[in-house]
Amino acid sequence: MKMLYQQMMAFFGVIAVTLVIVSILFIRSTTNTVWQNSFNQLEQYTDVLKDRAVDNDTYLINAQFIENAEEILAKQNVHFMIYDAANNARYPNIPGGAPQAIASKYWSQLKKGNTVALPELTTNPQNGRQQRMTIYYKPVFLSQKLLFVIAAFAPVENIQSSIQQTEKNLVVAFLLSLLAAIVISYFLARFQVNRINRLRQATHQVAEGDYDVQVQFDKKGHDEVAALADDFQDMVGSLRESQAEIHRQEERRRQFMADAAHEMRTPLTTINGLLEGLAYDAIPEESKGESIALMQKETKRLIRLVNENLDYEKIRTNQILLNKQTFNATEALHDIVSQLQQKAEASNDQLVLTAADEVPVFADHDRFVQVLFNITQNAIQFTQNGTITISAKAGYHQTELAVQDTGIGMSPDQVKNIWERYYKADPSRKNTKYGESGLGLAIVHQLVTRHGGTIKVESALNQGTTFFITFPDEETAPKQAPITHTK
Ligand SMILES: Nc1ncnc2c1ncn2[C@@H]1O[C@H](COP(=O)(O)OP(=O)(O)OP(=O)(O)O)[C@@H](O)[C@H]1O
Ligand SMILES: [Mg+2]
Repeated sequence: MKMLYQQMMAFFGVIAVTLVIVSILFIRSTTNTVWQNSFNQLEQYTDVLKDRAVDNDTYLINAQFIENAEEILAKQNVHFMIYDAANNARYPNIPGGAPQAIASKYWSQLKKGNTVALPELTTNPQNGRQQRMTIYYKPVFLSQKLLFVIAAFAPVENIQSSIQQTEKNLVVAFLLSLLAAIVISYFLARFQVNRINRLRQATHQVAEGDYDVQVQFDKKGHDEVAALADDFQDMVGSLRESQAEIHRQEERRRQFMADAAHEMRTPLTTINGLLEGLAYDAIPEESKGESIALMQKETKRLIRLVNENLDYEKIRTNQILLNKQTFNATEALHDIVSQLQQKAEASNDQLVLTAADEVPVFADHDRFVQVLFNITQNAIQFTQNGTITISAKAGYHQTELAVQDTGIGMSPDQVKNIWERYYKADPSRKNTKYGESGLGLAIVHQLVTRHGGTIKVESALNQGTTFFITFPDEETAPKQAPITHTK
């Protein structure tokens, strides 16, 4: 069944049950009131008769007065009877038969001084017909002695007709209310169902990949459906974010594949060309040695590329274990300087190390050397006739290192991308003396991060570049994550 009808039935059911209960209670209370009013009226009549229709001294009945009263009340068919202390009807004086006496069960009540009010089937002495009547008996006493009983009669029809009128009005009101209930429940149900439909529509949109949906309901009367809409909106937000992340990752992967293929094609093409030359004897004998040397160089480059890629992936996916220990950074830097001294001289660069004799650092020794070696090598690579300064000092809970050069520098745009794999600020620069894969800094970044350290760069075009690196000390360094094997 459609939710609209379910909701309508629920609302309608509640309203209808309420109406039925209210109607029943109303009818009962009205009926009671009408009966009560009728008895009250009869009581008032008997009060008047008690004072005016019977002489307390002579016990004589003023029949004329009662007849007049009956005449006035003729329209309502009210009549009276008066009984003496022996339960004999003294009024009306009907020739040919005395009206019936009061039933003994009521008479005993009356003798005790109680009034009696009841509806009963009785003979109307005015027309002799059997009729249901409301009767009010009132005993009159004089110094504790029962003098007589006054009875007032009114047909029950009077009461019933006024109750019937009320019932009729009530039925009309009931039907009109039901009609209103249908209309109200329809609008209430439609309001709820509309909101749910809006949510459904939004869900469809999201399922079709549209994450820009907005479902926000009125803040007024913030109920569960509105809360659900808010939660839905939050969910769409995080879906949108993860979708964007997936796109970014996919783009990075695609870029990586393209770059890796591109990087490998150059040496492969070179080797292939040389092999063809050798196969067809197109290379003169004296150049063969040189060709083989070139092929060796290109093959080494390919091997290095593959190894570095593997290394990068291993670091990235937590597959390497860092053998961390505290050692003297100055000593390690000295070794790097002496290894690169020749290369620096070839570029006419000066390599300077400024560090205290003992600067402790907590790191994997080989990886530390790899990081600093790479950065210093880059500095030499991009600096001609300049100075490269390597410095190290102990900071607060960390070791701080810097490699500063006075080389070609980078623009802010170039700086943004240097941690990306295969990034080269100047793509036309191929086959420089050292390193040309664009993997060096990507690996460096991963290594420093794995140590829990930081690496930052400051650079200005044609002025130089400085790399700042920190390694946390043993106390603050992160605990080694267990090796995970990812595909
Ligand atoms: N000291 C520097 N001065 C100017 N540019 C730099 C410096 N260091 C790095 N770069 C820029 O960042 C790029 C990325 O450096 P990275 O070391 O990752 O790659 P690479 O040196 O080109 O190749 P390799 O993977 O062999 O090291 C470099 O190509 C260069 O454009
Ligand atoms: Mg490099």
